[in-house]
This record gives sequence, structure tokens and C-alpha cells, in this order.
Amino acid sequence: MKLTVRIWRQAGPKADGKLVAYPVDDVSPDMSFLELLDVLNQDLIAAGEEPVAFDHDCREGICGSCGVVINGQAHGPERTTSCQLHLRSFSDGDTIDVEPWRAKGFPIIKDLVVDRSALDRIVQAGGYITAPTGSAPDAHATPVPKPSADLAFDNATCIGCGACVAACPNGSAMLFTAAKVTHLSLLPQGEPERAQRVLDMVDTMDDEGFGGCTNTGECVGSCPKGIPFASIATLNREFLKASRTRR
Ligand code: SF4
Ligand code: FES
Repeated sequence: MKLTVRIWRQAGPKADGKLVAYPVDDVSPDMSFLELLDVLNQDLIAAGEEPVAFDHDCREGICGSCGVVINGQAHGPERTTSCQLHLRSFSDGDTIDVEPWRAKGFPIIKDLVVDRSALDRIVQAGGYITAPTGSAPDAHATPVPKPSADLAFDNATCIGCGACVAACPNGSAMLFTAAKVTHLSLLPQGEPERAQRVLDMVDTMDDEGFGGCTNTGECVGSCPKGIPFASIATLNREFLKASRTRR
């Protein structure tokens, strides 16, 4: 395949940025999208130019670090992470636009790399449980109803990629926060901090500059892990209940 990638180049957080077009010849449809960027970077380095900065770690759809906006869609045209997107999703001769996540809560560091540490701070505010440490408890020591365990697991699959924020016209982190709150609200282990958790996580979400949710649903359409929209309703319910006890 021959492709042209138009990539957002920005030297630093305060520098002006612009889309720069690069032709990339002779790539395979079986390559991942990040391998396309690897090939481009090899060409740029060979030509003595600055390679494109982009984030990645696992390249297996697990770590959540690789997100970019591809042709205007967070993570591109398939419901998967940018690292699990393959070039067979495009046609020979295509021009592909690649941009960083754009949201107030995710300042650009360089090129396609943004600072997603705001999501870490939301988790630090309440995404934990307090439990005695020691030897591993028996698996059946704390019974959890199967439907609750399944739904908790579905929400626990959130990888913190931030696509929901990038896709949302309000730059809202509601789906991410909802996944964390819903996960722990369904389990007995999450019960002791349940009310304070949701208050602290929502407060931190607001403090970090993320917008509010207006139920547009773009987040769900871009989430590579299929976090359900209903989790946002759970977050709202948990927040309202906890607000009544707020001192
Ligand atoms: S809710 Fe989905 S899109 Fe948002 S951070 Fe989690 S995995 Fe990524
Ligand atoms: S590099 Fe880890 S999810 Fe893409």
C-alpha cells in the first residue's frame, strides 16, 4: 500500500502546531497503525528529520497509552485501540489525518503525545478499596452475585485511554469516571468508601477541567472496551445518593 499521512506536528506544549503531510510507500495491510508510524519515523530519521512523537507501550490494547484521533475519530474507524487498528481498514492511496486527543484536560506535550495524568488523579481520588492485607482470601469468602460480578468486570475493562474524553464535544471524562465508580459500587469490597469515592472522583474530574455530560453518547461510540452508557446513569445515581450525605 501507498498512503499519505497528515500528522499534527507540534514541537512543545506552547508551540504552534500544524498538519504536515508525509508519503509512506510500501506498507502492508497487515501492519498495525503504530507500525505505520514506525515506518514513517524510520524514514524521517534516515532523512535527518525529527521523528513523530507518539505514545505506546503494550501494543496489545491493554495499557491505554496509544490513543490518537484518526480521520477525526478517536482511535480511528474501528472499535479498537489505535495499536490494534490495522492498515487493511484503509485503502491504497488514502490520505489519513492523525491528530492528538484534543481536550482541555489533556494538554499536548509534543506532536501526538498528550498529558493524560488527570485520569490518574481521578483514580487516586477514589479508585481503590481499603482491605486488610495478608494471605489471599478464599475465592468464595465474599459471595458476589453473578450479574454484579459480570457488570463489575465489564466496567473494570476500562483501560484509561481517554478516547471517551477526546470524542466528547464537552471534553467530559464521565464515561471513564463512571466505569471506575460502577466497578467498585457493585462489589462488597467497594462498600466502605462508596459514598465518599463518588464525591471525591467527581470533584477531581471537575477540578481537572473536564466538561459535563450532555448525553451525546460519542464516548460510547469511541470506547474500545465497550463501557456501557448505562454506567453514566449509575454514576449519576451514586453521586445524587452520596450528595445527600455530603457534609
Ligand atoms: S471508558 Fe472507554 S474510552 Fe474511556 S478511558 Fe475507559 S476504555 Fe478508554
Ligand atoms: S499501546 Fe497499549 S493499548 Fe495501545
